[in-house]
Amino acid sequence: MTESHELALSLAAPDAANVSTKALVVGVHAGPDGPELAPSALSGSVREGLEGVLEDLGISGAADQLHRLPGFGDAGADVLALIGLGRPGAQESETLEALRYGAGSAVRQLAGLGSVTVDLPASSLEEVSAIAEGIAFGAFYDVGQRTSAEATEREPITEAVIFSPVRSEEAHEALARALVLGEAVDHTRRLVNEAPNSLYPDSFAGRALERIAGLDDVTAEVLDEAALEEGGFGGILGVGKGSARPPRLVVVDYSPEGAERHVALVGKGITFDSGGLSLKPGGSMMTMKCDMAGAAAALNAVAAAAELRLPVRVTARLCLAENLPSGSATKPEDVLTMRGGTTVEVLNTDAEGRLVMADGLAHASESAPDLLLDVATLTGAQMVALGGRCSAVMGDEQARSSVVRAAERAGEEFWPMPLPDYMAQELKSPVADLKNVGAGRNGGMLIAGLFLREFVGSSEEGRIPWAHLDIAGPAFNEGSPYGYTPKEGTGAAVSTLVSLLEDVAGA
Ligand code: BES
Ligand code: MN
Ligand code: ZN
Repeated sequence: MTESHELALSLAAPDAANVSTKALVVGVHAGPDGPELAPSALSGSVREGLEGVLEDLGISGAADQLHRLPGFGDAGADVLALIGLGRPGAQESETLEALRYGAGSAVRQLAGLGSVTVDLPASSLEEVSAIAEGIAFGAFYDVGQRTSAEATEREPITEAVIFSPVRSEEAHEALARALVLGEAVDHTRRLVNEAPNSLYPDSFAGRALERIAGLDDVTAEVLDEAALEEGGFGGILGVGKGSARPPRLVVVDYSPEGAERHVALVGKGITFDSGGLSLKPGGSMMTMKCDMAGAAAALNAVAAAAELRLPVRVTARLCLAENLPSGSATKPEDVLTMRGGTTVEVLNTDAEGRLVMADGLAHASESAPDLLLDVATLTGAQMVALGGRCSAVMGDEQARSSVVRAAERAGEEFWPMPLPDYMAQELKSPVADLKNVGAGRNGGMLIAGLFLREFVGSSEEGRIPWAHLDIAGPAFNEGSPYGYTPKEGTGAAVSTLVSLLEDVAGA
């Protein structure tokens, strides 16, 4: 696996005469009456010169539109890069996301230039923070296993200076936080991108141990197939049975001294989802290496929490299995006994995520956390409902709302979805406590959420607060890069989970 590259972030007083980097990035809004230069440190003459010709230069201010112009000395840098910021947003969170997205898009597109100065409106701590995050997320490039010079010579930006009048202690902390988040998102993307012949349950477990090596107060335990048998993890074992590569459950625990609250995360880690004996058509199997994105996000959220020294205990369970058909695979109509004793009739082996997650949720519930969150590329229905950029969140109203709020701050889209009680009828089986699919195709995302709810336990204080994050669409970008999002693995949910952990830690 390629090491994530180094990125240096710093703050400087806005002064175009003092740019020490290759390119100066300035924003352009798509205003109601045409393109408008965003406030920047450009000198009056450059600004005036540009303002009149933006349209003639083909600059509209549309998001992701990047134009490179010569700096001509006056801009301080060799290259003046104008990045579209889209239409000015009405809400503060929209404005911040436009900055995060624009900074990230510019940095991503300017890969190869080495260093940039980002001169976007950054007059508040929140703005500095959003810009720093965008840079950290955008300065990413995964060469993968390509060996051509064209692929290997493309270096993401390694140095970025942010122009801002805000250079307080908090602002410097925001940069450090952005780097931690960037690292977590970067690592998640690389895990998702890794080919499934090298990333399988046991090697994923190894990657998890490497990721947390050296982090204070973090421990990990890997349960192999014998330990899973011993512990009655019938869901993870049942899904993993068809593969020559046995399943694993990894428990990663960050437990700082004095933490008063405990958050449990459960991540879906299907390192490849062929559907099993209910085999997917070939076309639908494309992208199914991404079916471990939830586990990758959960792992990296714990690592980031530890790096940020958040005063909250966080335990992630990574439910790792490879879903393949074979003579030893689980068959439709098999009945599995899950962790905790609930029996499940498997009618479709392609609804495997909920089976491994059920064990993870039941196991996590045993430790009675204050909050239980699961994150999974769980259903195709999620993408049908919300498309490729908006995730879904279900569960208890309070937990669900806190995810929505955290996501808004993180600049990710999580839309609240219901779990209607009447639909749970569809999960009744004549031979077991539950079956793993509903009656038809309708509401498939909600059915999956209702299935998971059956495995959320109680503590002395009642039902454990729980939310379920379905990231099937947003976890993997099949199209072109946009904003700070590259092709393939996106790192979806990492930033939202970290923001939520910060909320819990601060409460
Ligand atoms: N991993 C898939 C869901 C998925 C689909 C994620 C597309 C990302 C992109 C999941 O295991 C699955 O196959 N779900 C089935 C459930 C059905 C059999 C009830 C689906 O959504 O078709
Ligand atoms: Mn499946
Ligand atoms: Zn799956």
